[in-house]
Amino acid sequence: MDDISHTLVVGGSSGMGLALARRLLAEGQAVTIAGRSRDRLDAVSAELACDRLRTAQADITREDSVRDLFGPWLIEHTGRLDHVVVTAADMSAGYGPLTQLPLADARAVVDAKVLGPWLVAKYAVPLLSETLTVTSGIAAYRPAVGGTVVATANAALEGLVRALALELAPIRVNAVSPGWVDTPIWNGFAADTKDERLAAMAARLPGGRIGHPDDIADAFLAVLHNRFMTGTVLHVDGGHRLV
Ligand SMILES: NC(=O)c1ccc[n+]([C@@H]2O[C@H](COP(=O)([O-])OP(=O)(O)OC[C@H]3O[C@@H](n4cnc5c(N)ncnc54)[C@H](OP(=O)(O)O)[C@@H]3O)[C@@H](O)[C@H]2O)c1
Repeated sequence: MDDISHTLVVGGSSGMGLALARRLLAEGQAVTIAGRSRDRLDAVSAELACDRLRTAQADITREDSVRDLFGPWLIEHTGRLDHVVVTAADMSAGYGPLTQLPLADARAVVDAKVLGPWLVAKYAVPLLSETLTVTSGIAAYRPAVGGTVVATANAALEGLVRALALELAPIRVNAVSPGWVDTPIWNGFAADTKDERLAAMAARLPGGRIGHPDDIADAFLAVLHNRFMTGTVLHVDGGHRLV
């Protein structure tokens, strides 16, 4: 397997991470996907059915778990780790009026969205050769009322990207910042109103539609392949920052 590149997608068992994993496998590359739920990883592994795919259970909010993820086993299959992409984050606790949001919930969001990627960077370094790419989001630029912590975490993550691009050079470090994308993250909407609510959101955007996970996979691939891109944020949001 020495002649094909190997990408770890942390968060690759769902949404935009899964779309990226599919595309990389279709290109003939080796992929490891990581997430918390073993059932979810097994379901994706069965669906993608590829001998270049491996899965690993890991929680990026726990240092011991991230340390284990980047053990020697990670490169046994391919002999290398070219790219790490982090799409993992559980932001569900992060929404609510400022005066009612418990500090523990706010910390959980910062742990997942900022310190999780920080831990991934910390333990990836000895194995990683090419790029680290993380996932920010439109909330850093168009915060929602009741989204103080989510806005803060996304903005902080982009600061981390700039610092890591210097400290980890020549490894290239970037963020992709999606707008609204139709992934399971929106399953909190009642099933009978989800399509209607996503259509109303789409109507507000210059792009005229909600993003598809493949739109974001395209952006990750551009960042992975462009050797002159580091320390930056690639926006893929249908023009959301303009309205
Ligand atoms: N969808 C949008 O509209 C949108 C917009 C802007 C930004 N974003 C950002 O884009 C990223 C990806 O979103 P998505 O919509 O693709 O989400 P998703 O479909 O919910 O997928 C999230 C993935 O991350 C994993 N994960 C969650 N917490 C984890 C943890 N602590 N450790 C390891 N894995 C974890 C999940 O698996 P397990 O649950 O099994 O761990 C799952 O595979 C997120 O950072 C999100 O904040 C999304």
